[in-house]
Amino acid sequence: APAPASTLVIFGANGDLTKRLLTPSLYNLTGAGLLADGFHVIGLDHNERSDEAYRDQLTEAMQSFVADKGGEFSADGIDQRAWGWVRERLSYLTGEFEEAATYERLAARLEDIRRSAGHGNCVFYLATAPRFFGTIVERLAAAGLMRQEGDDFRRVVVEKPFGTDLASAQALNARILGLVEESQVFRIDHFLGKETVQNILALRFANGIFEPLWRRDHIDHVQITAAETVGVEQRGRFYEATGALRDMVPNHMMQLLAMTAMEPPNSFDADAVRAEKAKVVQAIRPLGAAELARDVVRGQYTAGTSKGQPVTGYRNEPNVAPDSGTETYIAMKLAIDNWRWAGVPFYIRTGKRMTLRRTEIAIQFKQAPFAMFRDTPVERLTPNFMVIHIQPSEGISLHLSAKEPGPTLKLSGVQMDFRYADWFKAGPSTGYETLLYDVLVGDATLFQRADNVEAGWCAVQPILDAPVAIEPYAAGSEGPDAADALLARDGRHWLKLA
Ligand code: BG6
Repeated sequence: APAPASTLVIFGANGDLTKRLLTPSLYNLTGAGLLADGFHVIGLDHNERSDEAYRDQLTEAMQSFVADKGGEFSADGIDQRAWGWVRERLSYLTGEFEEAATYERLAARLEDIRRSAGHGNCVFYLATAPRFFGTIVERLAAAGLMRQEGDDFRRVVVEKPFGTDLASAQALNARILGLVEESQVFRIDHFLGKETVQNILALRFANGIFEPLWRRDHIDHVQITAAETVGVEQRGRFYEATGALRDMVPNHMMQLLAMTAMEPPNSFDADAVRAEKAKVVQAIRPLGAAELARDVVRGQYTAGTSKGQPVTGYRNEPNVAPDSGTETYIAMKLAIDNWRWAGVPFYIRTGKRMTLRRTEIAIQFKQAPFAMFRDTPVERLTPNFMVIHIQPSEGISLHLSAKEPGPTLKLSGVQMDFRYADWFKAGPSTGYETLLYDVLVGDATLFQRADNVEAGWCAVQPILDAPVAIEPYAAGSEGPDAADALLARDGRHWLKLA
């Protein structure tokens, strides 16, 4: 059903996120009939623009989204009816995010919409640099724009990064929650918009066959990988101050870990789900000095190749210090101290400029207990991995041992595959459609509550406090050797990326 009529105010209307993700998502939601007639979009940013120029700017953004996605769209590109519907609801407001006058003009614009469209529902989307998050919420609240009157809702969407460590995340939460209710705040983690990430819960809790095995009695270990082939591109300045740990682990990787390891929630109610996620992340054993020295690997890419082309090392990227100590790769071994997972290591790795782009969760089940197959030493049996493929291929595969055809008993590794593409036909999406729709209908299940964000930072804070030495790895490789050694020490190995 269409979401209730509302106005979406985008702070950072001329930014990259608005162009690449929000605009195509609005288009897709319109195509799916999920936006109601009284819907409006106000783009707000500091540059001067007319409404018409802004409409043209987003039309161009739509065209490049369609061009990128190629033949998946109709021959003439954009569906003009759907885009025309969005386009005529767009307007633009020039203003500085810090100035009270901006919010007076915004209030006047919203009052006009209330009169013409008959609703006062409003979502303020903070697609800005993080330093503005607190200030914008403060100004919105001061202008009375966060007050919910009658049935009208007022919500704020906060993008990533939410803080740069535990203390700053706590401070930002305290500042925001001093002004508005938790139920008005939607903290984005875009991984939760990915279909395959949402499917982890369906896989676990809508099927009877896996959950009985989903525990320490049957699972040997879990590997969570988010490997990228891109380098830092034009984001050197941001990345230098951020690094792979802050950029990926407390948020995206912790979400994947939580989905995989959480207890079944009592319902799909937002708070029931988020409480279980917070609980499992809070159960991660704090990394002490011994674990930091042994179980954490920080890497930085040096010159190498990417998709067959020579590429430069991280320290030669634009806006990166020639002696930079920022990691572009991080791997770690975590323990979860609860009844389900005691003794089951969770190995996590993420990096830029790796050999392949691949995000996946691999669950290795325990080996068959004794080598009945005398000629096949137990260590040569194919380990039973279940791999949840998040991207770029989407699906689930199960690695099994099978008898090779022939007169002698010889075992071989085989794979059972479920691929999304074989079963479902879905158009190109950004992953933000679900998230935007959920904000409009007020479903916070796929958003992070304050305690989820803080639990993620809490788990990685010891590494921020005492960063271990950087290990080089060649661009286009599978990461630093030390990351292989981390698993080899436990008699295990990472699933090959290549
Ligand atoms: C972002 C990080 O949050 O996630 C980027 O800032 C990273 O550095 C990106 O590339 C990965 O997201 P996706 O959806 O491309 O896997």
